[in-house]
Amino acid sequence: MTSPLSDARVVLGVCGGIAAYKSAELCRLLDKAGAQVSVMMTASACRFIAPLTFHALTGRPVLTDLYAMAGDHGDGHGIDHIRVADSADVVVLAPATATTIARLAAGLADDAVAAVCLATRAKMVLAPAMNVNMWQHPITQRNVATIAAREGVTVCGPGAGFLACRWTGPGRMAEPADIVEATARALTVQDLANRTVVVTAGPTREAIDPMRFLSNRSTGKMGVAIARSALRRGARVILVAGPMATELLPAAEVVRAHSAREMEAAVRDAASAADVVIMAAAVADFRAAEIAPQKLAKGDVIRGGATLALAANPDILAGLGKARAETGGRRPILVGFAAETVGGDALIARARQKLTTKQVDLICANDVSAKDAGFASEHNRVVLVGPTTAEALPLLTKDDVAAAILDRVVDLISAVDG
Ligand code: PMT
Repeated sequence: MTSPLSDARVVLGVCGGIAAYKSAELCRLLDKAGAQVSVMMTASACRFIAPLTFHALTGRPVLTDLYAMAGDHGDGHGIDHIRVADSADVVVLAPATATTIARLAAGLADDAVAAVCLATRAKMVLAPAMNVNMWQHPITQRNVATIAAREGVTVCGPGAGFLACRWTGPGRMAEPADIVEATARALTVQDLANRTVVVTAGPTREAIDPMRFLSNRSTGKMGVAIARSALRRGARVILVAGPMATELLPAAEVVRAHSAREMEAAVRDAASAADVVIMAAAVADFRAAEIAPQKLAKGDVIRGGATLALAANPDILAGLGKARAETGGRRPILVGFAAETVGGDALIARARQKLTTKQVDLICANDVSAKDAGFASEHNRVVLVGPTTAEALPLLTKDDVAAAILDRVVDLISAVDG
């Protein structure tokens, strides 16, 4: 249960474009994610950035010469570009220039980068970067389509914006973090392909007056980790996000919801076409019975006895469970969390009670009073509680917790599909 990038053999191909300077950051991020990165460069890439930069970042020799033999800087035998092509789990071409894309589409193998791309059987991630007119040229579009039609090829970007050539439009290389994510996805089994997964994340905010609200300590990290993991596994992801600072995912469809009632409407909409709904959001159970139209003055509150009347919010998850039970169906698969301040058997008992009353398939129970897990932490410790099972996971990163939850979800989908 570790990142798909950890120990993955990633061959990073750098072509000659101004975005080549960003490839150094990409290389660093891949290395940080645990990948074993080897770099290959075209002759023009070497004019933009030195091979030494990548050698220093990876600690591995950089392949620039089609005619180099492994004895020159490899493992002592074989032909370098074939050894590199065979060793790769994934080849990432970033930036992929118009010229190299054209050579790949034509099946040329006239330099080390093109030869590795032609010889490899590994997955490939292509991050194009070029002038907007070059990108939009029908020949480039045709060449990209030719390569993208090959099984195992992902095209990441380009993004749009102000380009180094002073034109504005599509042509910017995708951000290094997005290319890393596309690479992780390329390495992940697509067991949620063609599925729609709705994930909620973060807190809700219940207004008291125009400047105050009731809320809680949720940062949305747990929900975003689940959304990321579902995207990696090929799902279409609708992320219903409360007010939070945690970075959202460009590949997800994001719907913003502030209050519990806004979140209820957003989830109900999204759930109608969903295969799975996972509620990791910490939805406020109560709201102010009345929202003051003007800022409450300190004096007024004190004179009034300082009492805040509360009203119950809708229970979104229970509503989904009830609606599903009324149809008699088993879709969507419903997964909730239980945030408790107890551990052990009491945690499991409360989670199972929520499972039953909310009529859902799985509850991920967490003790949010733990110092090293729960709210805001990068880690979590959950018990996966089903109708008759309780599986306690150790302290894990939220990404690993998310992967474990989705493993159970895939099992539940298989059970429903028969
Ligand atoms: O966001 P982080 O900082 O990463 O922290 C993660 C987390 C601690 C918020 C997360 O792991 C978690 O426990 N989320 C659920 C919090 C919660 O609201 O628990 P609950 O036991 O109060 O609710 C049970 C379930 O019903 C939850 O799935 C909740 O989303 C849902 N619910 C609750 C109340 C309500 N009005 N409507 C709901 O749908």
